[in-house]
Order: sequence, then C-alpha cells, then structure tokens
Amino acid sequence: KIVPVVLAGGQGTRLWPLSRSVRPKQFLNLNGDVSLFQQALLRVLDDRYAAPIVITNSEYRFLVAEQAQEMGIALAAIMLEPVVRNTAPAIAAASVLAESKFGGDPILHILASDHAIDVDDEYWHSIDTARTAAEGGMLVTFGVVPTVPETGYGYIEAGEPTEAGALQVVQFIEKPDAVRAQDMLERGGYFWNSGMFVFSARTFLDEAEALAPDVVEHAGTAVVKGVPDLDFFRLEEESFAQAPNISIDYAVLEKSDKVAVVAVGYRWSDLGSWDAVWKIADKDEAGNVAHQNVSLTNTQRSLVLSDHAHVVVDGLEDVAVIVSEDAVYVGRLSNAQQVGSIVKRLRANP
Ligand code: GDD
Ligand code: MG
Repeated sequence: KIVPVVLAGGQGTRLWPLSRSVRPKQFLNLNGDVSLFQQALLRVLDDRYAAPIVITNSEYRFLVAEQAQEMGIALAAIMLEPVVRNTAPAIAAASVLAESKFGGDPILHILASDHAIDVDDEYWHSIDTARTAAEGGMLVTFGVVPTVPETGYGYIEAGEPTEAGALQVVQFIEKPDAVRAQDMLERGGYFWNSGMFVFSARTFLDEAEALAPDVVEHAGTAVVKGVPDLDFFRLEEESFAQAPNISIDYAVLEKSDKVAVVAVGYRWSDLGSWDAVWKIADKDEAGNVAHQNVSLTNTQRSLVLSDHAHVVVDGLEDVAVIVSEDAVYVGRLSNAQQVGSIVKRLRANP
C-alpha cells in the first residue's frame, strides 16, 4: 500500500490575520466545513493507502491530534519537528521513519495540507500512474496547466513520455521571478508543480543524500535518536536543528534528473493567499465573498471576512478586508502575495 505523508507544519503567513502562528491556515475551514488539513486526510481514506504519517511542528501537535480524531481517522504516527526547517528535512525524516515502520521500500505519497482539490476519476488515475513511475525509480510530481504568471509556484518543463505514462522533466524551476514566469507561460510546455509527490522512500533518500547530504544526515539522525511519546514521535532536537532550512523543491527537485511529471486536469488550488481564497469561493452577483455579519454596498469583487465585529464596506472594489479577534487587514486583492512579507516585517519589528 502507498504510505501517505501529510505535511502540516507550514506557517501560512500570507493568510494573516486569520492564519496565525498559533493556528496556521491548514487548520482553518477556508473553503468548507472541514479544515484544509482534514481535507488532505480525507483524500487518503482509500484502499490504496496505509494509515497516514503526519509531520508537523511540535507547536501544532494537539491541533493535528484533535482534527484527525474529529474525523475518526487513525494515524500511523504524528512526527514532531522541534524547530522549523522547511519541507526537505521533514520529508527526509518521514521517509526514514516510513522505511522502519512499514519495512521494504514503501511508496510514499507526500501531500501538502493547503490544497483544495476536486477528487474525481482522473485524480485517481493520476495517482496510479504516479505509483507505477515511482516503482520505476522516479521522483514523481503532478503538473497543473498554468493560467497566470504566478510566482509563488514551482514550474516544470516537461519532455518526452516515459514508459510508465508520466513525462520526463527537462527542468524544474522553483518560484521564478515575474519576468521568467511570464516567459514560461507564453512559451508553453511548462506546468505548475502541484506540491504533491510520489516516490519510494529509498529513491528519495538516495537522491537527497547525493544532492543535499546535510538534510539526510541530520534529519536521519533526528529519527534514530527520536523518542516515541504516546501518539507522537519527537524528532531529536540537536540533530534536527543542524539540518539546513530548505524546501524539497530547492534541495532536491531543481537538481535531480530523476524527476517525472504526471499532467493533471482536475481542479486544484493552493489556498495560500487571499486572492486564491476569493477565486475558489462562491460569489454573489457583484463578485463578492463575505461572511454573514458583513454588510456591503457599492462594493465589487471583494473578500470580506469577519468572525467577530460587524463590518460595513462601502464603495470599494477588488479589496480584501479580513477581521480577526485582535487584528485587521485591509488591502488590494492584487497585492495578496505581499501579505507574507508584511507579516514577517511585523514579527521582526512589532
Ligand atoms: N512538516 C512541515 N514542516 N511542513 C511544512 C513546513 C515545515 O517546516 N513548511 C511547510 N510545510 C507544509 C505546509 O503546511 C504545506 O502543507 C506544504 O508543506 C507546502 O508548503 P508551502 O509553504 O505551502 O509551500 P509553497 O506553496 O510555498 O510551495 C510548494 O507548493 C507549491 C504548490 O502548492 C512548492 O512545492 C511549489 O513548487 C509548489 O508549486
Ligand atoms: Mg502552499
């Protein structure tokens, strides 16, 4: 069976002030009745899969445990990172634990917990294709056809088809600048990296050991010296802290020549920013998305969310107004990508 590994340790700063360091976006209900993390768990409730491994920051251990329990989903392990080191060390640690827990060379499906996906027959077909390519020793990504020159995603230049039905990857470019993103969109032949991966634990660890040896060494030691604690598995802090802070995209995928891509056409979005939340939500005739305690007049194409105060917006267009218990954000929806850097500045200089 495929072993699901759910990444749930991101901070989600671009969705400030609803996404906060105490409860980041993956644990919020942004597009329905359950959180994005719970939606990721539901996607692996299928006969193809073993019980999932969740890997998260130690701070979110109770959110993970409670939200899994709420869905009645039993987890194989909740791995806890003592410090923030991004996705490469997290995935390396999960691969090492999966090898020892499941034996052999398990096929892993790495899932992000900030995605909204319409799961249909094509989705399952793409998973089966990916599994076959992964059994053949590839690091498999899923490619979404780009529609705008988004700079927040990785781009994949696809080449010839492989035997397994996936495409070879000529080049992987993580988060290009605006000029390069526009150029790739116009030239065609590129996909967005969806942020989900399928590979065998050994294929990933061998490739990561060759391309980013520090990641594997320190994340691996943190597992060996790690301590099971009730439902949790605590990675050992001293080793894990020595791992470089780097994502899988920069550490491995940009450099590897074993990457394959499965092209997908189902509805997929990374709910990483307020414009993405606005885009996928049901809108009224004026193109607005608003909570119940919001009154709008002469306002168009806007996102107005408030769980607390009654909010009135008059005469604005294309804005996000986000009201939380103790902070308010007002900005242009087209500036949504900037929220993360504003929050980082605030944290450095409150
Ligand atoms: N356990 C753990 N630890 N999880 C993490 C950490 C960490 O330190 N950092 C991030 N994550 C989780 C997030 O919660 C999310 O579910 C997933 O890993 C991806 O992290 P993001 O921070 O959302 O990455 P991104 O969206 O900027 O970029 C990635 O995804 C894009 C598509 O959604 C890249 O893979 C891009 O290439 C890709 O296009
Ligand atoms: Mg993301």
